[in-house]
Amino acid sequence: MSLLLLVGVLATAVCYRVYLRYRRISISDIPGPKAESFILGNLRQYFQSQAGAIDFEWQEAYGDIVRFKGPFGEDRLLVADPKALQHIYHTSGYNYSKQKERREVSRLLSGHGLIWADGQTHKRQRRIMNPAFGSKESRALVPIFVNSASKLSTKWKDMLSTADGEELVFDMANWLARATLDAMGIAAFDYHFGTLENAGDELGNAYANLCMEAFGNLTERDILKQSIVPHLPQWILQFITNNVPNRRLEQLRKTSAVASKVAQRLIDEKAEALISGKGNRDVMSLLVQANVSENEKTRMSNDEMIAQMRTLLLAGYETTATSLNWILLEIARHEKVQTRLRQEIHEKEGEIRARGDAEFTAADFDSMPYLTAVLKEGLRYHPAAYSTYREAAKDDILPLHTPITTRSGKIITEIPVPKGTKVVTSINGYNRHKAVFGPDSHVFDPDRWLTPGRVEKAASVGVYGNLLSFAAGVRACIGWRFAVLELQAFIVELVGQFEISLTPEALRVRREACLVMAPTIEGQLEKGNQLPLKVKLASRSN
Ligand code: HEM
Ligand SMILES: *[C@@H]1O[C@H](CO)[C@@H](O)[C@H](O)[C@H]1NC(C)=O
Ligand SMILES: *[C@@H]1O[C@H](CO)[C@@H](O)[C@H](O)[C@H]1NC(C)=O
Ligand SMILES: *[C@@H]1O[C@H](CO)[C@@H](O)[C@H](O)[C@H]1NC(C)=O
Repeated sequence: MSLLLLVGVLATAVCYRVYLRYRRISISDIPGPKAESFILGNLRQYFQSQAGAIDFEWQEAYGDIVRFKGPFGEDRLLVADPKALQHIYHTSGYNYSKQKERREVSRLLSGHGLIWADGQTHKRQRRIMNPAFGSKESRALVPIFVNSASKLSTKWKDMLSTADGEELVFDMANWLARATLDAMGIAAFDYHFGTLENAGDELGNAYANLCMEAFGNLTERDILKQSIVPHLPQWILQFITNNVPNRRLEQLRKTSAVASKVAQRLIDEKAEALISGKGNRDVMSLLVQANVSENEKTRMSNDEMIAQMRTLLLAGYETTATSLNWILLEIARHEKVQTRLRQEIHEKEGEIRARGDAEFTAADFDSMPYLTAVLKEGLRYHPAAYSTYREAAKDDILPLHTPITTRSGKIITEIPVPKGTKVVTSINGYNRHKAVFGPDSHVFDPDRWLTPGRVEKAASVGVYGNLLSFAAGVRACIGWRFAVLELQAFIVELVGQFEISLTPEALRVRREACLVMAPTIEGQLEKGNQLPLKVKLASRSN
């Protein structure tokens, strides 16, 4: 009853706001799907479909800018147009801010760190942390990634050698998450989680359950609640996230407590050495030095320092593990790609041995065109972070790459966007944009990156391969170089050593939309993230 009343009050309030907005500028003339209901608009379709599925459907039907309905008649935009994306991420700076309710979830999950911060606070935090993520700093981490990947493959080889048959089924979701959490710990914090050895790690388990339990499987009731929340004042919102009993929020609170504990432990163990080791550019040193900085512009509070570590732990390993899952799935699906890639890897190994070295370096990865092509295609086809959520901080005009025909028949090349409009950027949609990636953009084909003219630049958007997979602009992924090198190290090790093929379950894989785009298996959703693939030792021709 009280919920109904609340809905009624809010509906009236929102209608009035919508009415006011109509008198000024409006996006109601932009084409898009009909609302399913007044209360939820199109949100059920958006939140209950697999990641990217509704984006592709609407993009096909209405184009690269789609107006869809939020709750209570609110108009929102789904954006995949290259020029509009460039405007939102680059040109506008912070004028497309993060959505309030999503920032609240970020705050709960990882505190007042980079993902939560906006405007000047974000600018300050980012300036302090950037030096740790440059090209030189990231490339220096390659031996760590190579070593972590080799630990995983040693583990698999041991298991294969004691198994009866010559192949085994491994759940990639589980193995890769553990291996990348370990790699992240060592590379960013010089800390050995040891989750590959010990599957019962507290932090690993907390993160492993996050996807489905906190963000997946949304009911209409969940969506309705999420729609009401942004209209509440900040203090009520904060009270709810911190206190109200709710299965999803409790999962977040539990994870958040574990991550804080781990971050504090890392700081306690390392702080002294880090303060005395002035001039180091690893991220822990930068944070600890900022914490004791005299200058307000370069200072970070204790709370922020812990938050950054939690942010990096979460943003840095789950996304990388998930991307690796999807890339290995495509490699398993495409035997020819796998064979050709393995050949390039084995040839390069021969070269490395011939020059008297034992391990791949960043320069070796750079000199492997097919590896690069497979990686870019994997990141394009399956962007682990599938959307970002923004809202216009002021009235604005969004320029378009491709003109659109409005519902009333006008052809327009820019869209007036009223202040407060919620914008979802479709990373899946842009990554399959036909003007950029060709008419066969829905096909997985690494060759597109090796054939001149098959990938065009419609506008400068992303940081890697002009893809949107790491977002773009002032708050593009800070760790993208780190991620690229880590993915290269794991792909080289795993595809070099093993033949990977599909299982019957892998034919029923779903791109589950739960913060990241995680693999689940149709009919076994209760098991959460999983990706069972067959693995056996690869034969060597040289
Ligand atoms: C393949 C792996 C990765 C993918 C696909 C990915 C993707 C993204 C995307 C799309 C964003 C923008 C989110 C938004 O604006 O709403 C982002 C932000 C971020 N990523 Fe990554 N990321 C990856 C790996 C990493 C790694 C390895 C690290 C750290 C070492 C990292 C740290 C961050 C941080 C701190 C942010 C927030 C940046 C800011 O707002 O200034 N990510 N990432
Ligand atoms: C953002 O909006 C403010 C207020 O209208 C304006 O002064 C500023 O120049 C804008 N920033 C950018 C990068 O467009
Ligand atoms: C960070 O700064 C706070 C307040 O100045 C101080 O109490 C704390 O010990 C510092 N932490 C580290 C790790 O240096
Ligand atoms: C999805 O949610 C429904 C209702 O809350 C619940 O009964 C079901 O077990 C959930 N499914 C999964 C896979 O979590």
